[in-house]
Amino acid sequence: MKTFGHFDDSAREFVITEAATPWPWINYMGSGDFFSLISNTAGGYCFCKDAKFRRILRYRYNGVPMDAGGRYFYIKDGDTVWNPGWKPCKTALDSYECRHGMGYTRITGQKDGLKAETLFFVPLGQRCEIHRVRLTNTGSAAKKIQLYAFLEWCLWNASTDMENFQRNLSTGEVEIEPDAIYHKTEYRERRNHYAFYGVNRPFDGYDTDRETFLGMYNGFEAPQQVLAGTSGNSVAHGWSPVAAQRFDLSLEPGASEELVFVLGYAENPDDAKFTAPGVINKAPAREMMAAFATPAQVDAAFAALRSYWDDLLGRFTVTSDVPELDRTVNIWNQYQCMITFFMSRSASYFESGIGRGMGFRDSNQDLAGIVHMIPDRARQRILDIAATQFPDGGCYHQYQPLTKRGNNDIGGGFGDDPLWLIFGTVEYLKETGDFSILDEPVPFDNKPGSEKTLLEHLKISFRRVATNVGPHGLPLIGRADWNDCLNLNCFSNDPDESFQTTENVAGGKAESLMIAGLFVAEGRDFAELLDRLGDASAADVRAAVSSMEESVKKYGWDGEWFLRAYDFYGRKIGSSENAESKIFIESQGWCGMARIGAAEGLCDKALDSAVKYLECEHGMVLNTPAYSEFIPDYGEISSYPRGYKENGGIFCHNNPWVIIAEAMAGRADDVWRHYRKITPAFCTDQALRKVEPYVFCQMVAGAEAAKPGEGKNSWLTGTAAWTWKCVSEFILGIKPQYDGLLVEPCIPLKHGTYRVHRRFRDAEYELNIRYTGGKGSFFIPYKPGRQVLNIEL
Ligand code: BGC
Ligand code: NOJ
Repeated sequence: MKTFGHFDDSAREFVITEAATPWPWINYMGSGDFFSLISNTAGGYCFCKDAKFRRILRYRYNGVPMDAGGRYFYIKDGDTVWNPGWKPCKTALDSYECRHGMGYTRITGQKDGLKAETLFFVPLGQRCEIHRVRLTNTGSAAKKIQLYAFLEWCLWNASTDMENFQRNLSTGEVEIEPDAIYHKTEYRERRNHYAFYGVNRPFDGYDTDRETFLGMYNGFEAPQQVLAGTSGNSVAHGWSPVAAQRFDLSLEPGASEELVFVLGYAENPDDAKFTAPGVINKAPAREMMAAFATPAQVDAAFAALRSYWDDLLGRFTVTSDVPELDRTVNIWNQYQCMITFFMSRSASYFESGIGRGMGFRDSNQDLAGIVHMIPDRARQRILDIAATQFPDGGCYHQYQPLTKRGNNDIGGGFGDDPLWLIFGTVEYLKETGDFSILDEPVPFDNKPGSEKTLLEHLKISFRRVATNVGPHGLPLIGRADWNDCLNLNCFSNDPDESFQTTENVAGGKAESLMIAGLFVAEGRDFAELLDRLGDASAADVRAAVSSMEESVKKYGWDGEWFLRAYDFYGRKIGSSENAESKIFIESQGWCGMARIGAAEGLCDKALDSAVKYLECEHGMVLNTPAYSEFIPDYGEISSYPRGYKENGGIFCHNNPWVIIAEAMAGRADDVWRHYRKITPAFCTDQALRKVEPYVFCQMVAGAEAAKPGEGKNSWLTGTAAWTWKCVSEFILGIKPQYDGLLVEPCIPLKHGTYRVHRRFRDAEYELNIRYTGGKGSFFIPYKPGRQVLNIEL
C-alpha cells in the first residue's frame, strides 16, 4: 500500500516523504492571535486575530493546481530552478522531507549538491512567522546560486480581496527598505496595521509588483525574474503587491548560509501612525525584526515554543501496549484539540476563513478538549460565548472573533445551543474547581447594563429548553439541532437560498430526540452543580429531567432504537416506519449517554441497533439508508448525495457519543472497535483516506458513498474534543470530578495494563492501572502534590 509519510513520535512529528500527497497535508502555527496554515509544500496563508478581516497572505481556494500561493523559496542554481518544498516549480528533487510538528513545520529539499532546510514557526507571544532558511553546499565544487523569497499580500479583507477588483486593483501600496518590504494598503485611511517581510541581511534585488516578478502570463512556477536571475526592483502601485527578495550567494564546499525572515504584522496607535507624511511608523516592525536577527535568537524562540508544547502535552500522557493509542492520546489528538479551539470552524483547507465565525455550540464543545491544558483561556471563552446569549436564553449561533459580537446573518433559534453552555461550564468546573466563574457578570447580546451572573445564564439556558417543547413534550428543534442539516421548519425550494440562513416557518413544531437526550444528560449535571451550590432550584431541574425522560420513553422509542425527531407535521423521523433513514446516530448517542430507559433495556437495544445498522468498515454512519432524493420537508440533510456529510457519511463527531454510551454500558469490545475505526493513527490506507493521516476528519465517506473511507473536512471538527473526552475519560477512564478524579476504564482486557500521568489542578498523579474487567471504580480525592497510585479494577 502506498504511503506518503510516517509518524516520528519521539519528535512529535509527522514526516512526509512524498511531496505529491493525495491532498495538501497541512499544519497550523500560532497560539495567541497570529495564526498560519502551512501545507507540506509551504502553501497556505496567515492572519492576525481574524481570518476574514486581517488576512495577511493571499490564498486562492479554487485555483488549479490547488494550494497555489504560500511562502515560496526559489533556488536558481545554474539553469535549474527549484523549491525546497517541491512546489511551485515541481522540479524533481534529490530528496524531499516535510516534518509537521507542534506549531512548526520543517521542509527540506536537496538538489545537485545543495541542501535547503527551511523551518517555519510562529514564536510565542509574537505576531509573525519566522522563516529560517539554511543552505548547505554538500557537493565538492563551489556554488554560486540565487535565492529568492516570495509571497503575495492579501488586501486584508479576505472576502473583498476576492471580489471588489474595481477598487482593489488601485489601492495597493508598499514601502521598501534594504532588508524589508512593507505592505501598507489602506494604512493611509482607517487601518492602523501593516504587514512586512523582513530579513536579517540586505537583499540584492527585490520586487513588489507581481506582474514584474512573475510576468503577466506566468504562474508561480515560472517567475520571469527568477528564470532570468534578475530582479525588477519594482514598486507596486495598485494591482497585486508582493514581496520578492533576491540574494546572490556563494557557497564553498561544505559551507552553509543561514537567513532569517520575519513575516510580521504590526499595529500603531492613531497618533503615531506616520513618521513623515505618507511614511509609516516602522518601529514595531523593526523591533520584531531585531528580536530575530541572529540564529541564536531564533533557536531560543524555537526552544521556547517546544517547551510550551512539552508543558501542554505533558499534562496527560499514557503509556500502553498500543502505539497508535499512545500517539493519538499523547500527541495528535490533544494538538488537534488546541488547533480546533483556536480556529473554531473558521480556517482550514475546507473552511475558507471568510464564511463562519465561532460557533456557539462548537466553541462550547471544543472546551472539553483543552480545558486541562489552558484553563484560563477556557474561562475567557466561556464568558465570551455566554455574552452572545439573548435574554430569553436563545443564542446567536455564531459570533465574530474580532468583535466578539453575535453574527446577524445567521441569527439564533437552534434548539440545542443553550444546553451547550451548561456542558462547557461543567467541563470547566470539574477540571479546575474554579466556581468563581459562576459569579462573573455577563451581559446579554453584549449589551452593557444587561449583565447577570454566569450561573443565571445557565439557569436561563436550561429553562429555555425546558419550556420550549412540542406536542410530545420533546424539545423543539428550531432551525436545527446539533445536526445543522436537519432543517425541519425550513422548506426551502429556492436554490439561491442557504439552508443555514433562510427564515424558518414561524411556530414550527418539529421536535428533536437528540436535544431530549442532551437535555437529560446536561440537566442531571446541572442539578448536581446546583446541589453543590446549595441552590434549591435543583429540584425543579430534576423534575424537568424526569418528565423529559418519560416523554422520551413514551414518544421517542421506536421499538429497537430511539427515534430521531418529529417533523413539522408531527410525523416520525428515524423510524422503522420510514422508507429511508430509518435510524440515526445522534439520538442513540445522546439518549444512550443520558441512560434513558436503561433499566428497561432501551440503551442496550439502541446500541445493538447502532452496531447492526450504522456500523460499516470505517466507522458508524449518521443515518441509514441515506436519503436518495431531496425532501424539502427535511432540508439540507437530503441535499447531500448518499454517503456524504450529514446524509449517510461517517460524521466522526457523533461516533464518540455512541462509544461513550457503549462505555457506560460496559461494552468494551464495541468501544474499542469503534474507536479504532475513526482514529487516524489506526488507518493504514493513506491513499484512500486522502487527507492528513494525523488528524481526525469531520467526515469520512460512508458505506453508501461512491468511495467509502475517503476522508474530508480534516482538522476543524468537534470530533477532536469528543474523541479526547471519549478516550481520556471513558476508555482510559480518568474522569475529572468536582472533588477529584474517578478512575473507571473500559478497554479490552488485553490492553488493560497501562500508565497514565495526569496533572489535575495543583496535583500530579502517576496512575498504574490494571483493568481486569471489574465494574467498580476508584476515586482519588483531589490533593495538591504528587501521588503514585497502583489501581486494580
Ligand atoms: C454543513 C454542516 C455545517 C453547516 C453550517 C452545512 O452545509 O453540512 O456540517 O455545520 O453547513 O456551516
Ligand atoms: C458542523 C458544525 O460546525 C457543527 O456545529 C454541527 O453540529 C455539525 N456540522 C453537524 O451538522
